[in-house]
Amino acid sequence: MSIQLHLHSSREAAIRTVAQEMAMLIRNKPHAVLGLATGATPIPLYQELVRLHRVEGLSFRQVTTFNLDEYLGLEPTHPESYWNFMHRNLFDHIDIPAANIHLPGSQVKTEDILSHCEAYEDAIRVAGGIDYQILGIGRTGHIGFNEPGSPADSITRRIHLDEITRQDAAPAFGDLAHVPTHAITMGCGTILAARKIALMAFGEGKAAIVRRALREPVTDEVSASFLQNHPDAHFHLDPASASAL
Ligand code: F6R
Repeated sequence: MSIQLHLHSSREAAIRTVAQEMAMLIRNKPHAVLGLATGATPIPLYQELVRLHRVEGLSFRQVTTFNLDEYLGLEPTHPESYWNFMHRNLFDHIDIPAANIHLPGSQVKTEDILSHCEAYEDAIRVAGGIDYQILGIGRTGHIGFNEPGSPADSITRRIHLDEITRQDAAPAFGDLAHVPTHAITMGCGTILAARKIALMAFGEGKAAIVRRALREPVTDEVSASFLQNHPDAHFHLDPASASAL
């Protein structure tokens, strides 16, 4: 098994490819289960899915979604909450029923976190498992918020965010002090259980970590390297993110 590499001529070409794959899946399997990511990387993908919905009638009425992660401690309506991000960038513009949308909670009490995470895992199982998982990659090599040291078989849980991850989020929050210290994330094991995985990475800033994830031995120091052991994992890169390979 090895990660299948897609070297696209541009970010736009990569986005079109991934969006077409998702559209084909949904047309063939209207009850498809999607694993979704937030961050800068998938924003143009969501724009393309909205366009496919508006222009080509792609319907999400029977689709179920599970997001990878959510910051802990934010109101869902906080501009940087992932609940807010997903509604602003995708859910408000397509025909998915609210009941089919799942994100970890942002305001779960400490004593309820374990049962909340177990319920998230159960909901994924009950939905039939994830057909197509979208991923970005953090500079720490995280997928979801599985920071260095996350085991390959980890499940949905509370995680302490790496300082690099918090620094990368600081501009959006205005100040490092405003960036939450913890999040709830699907585990590496949760992600690896998806039937197909598409990791997208764009720009020079991702080149070094993309090389480590793809070309170096599998290690829990780079959780994206676990994808080397997945039977249907794909990296969609632009020339800049592929420049260190
Ligand atoms: C987001 C997520 C993260 C991001 C990663 C890259 O839900 O789980 O793993 O995909 O931090 O973020 P961007 O795309 O902003 O570079």
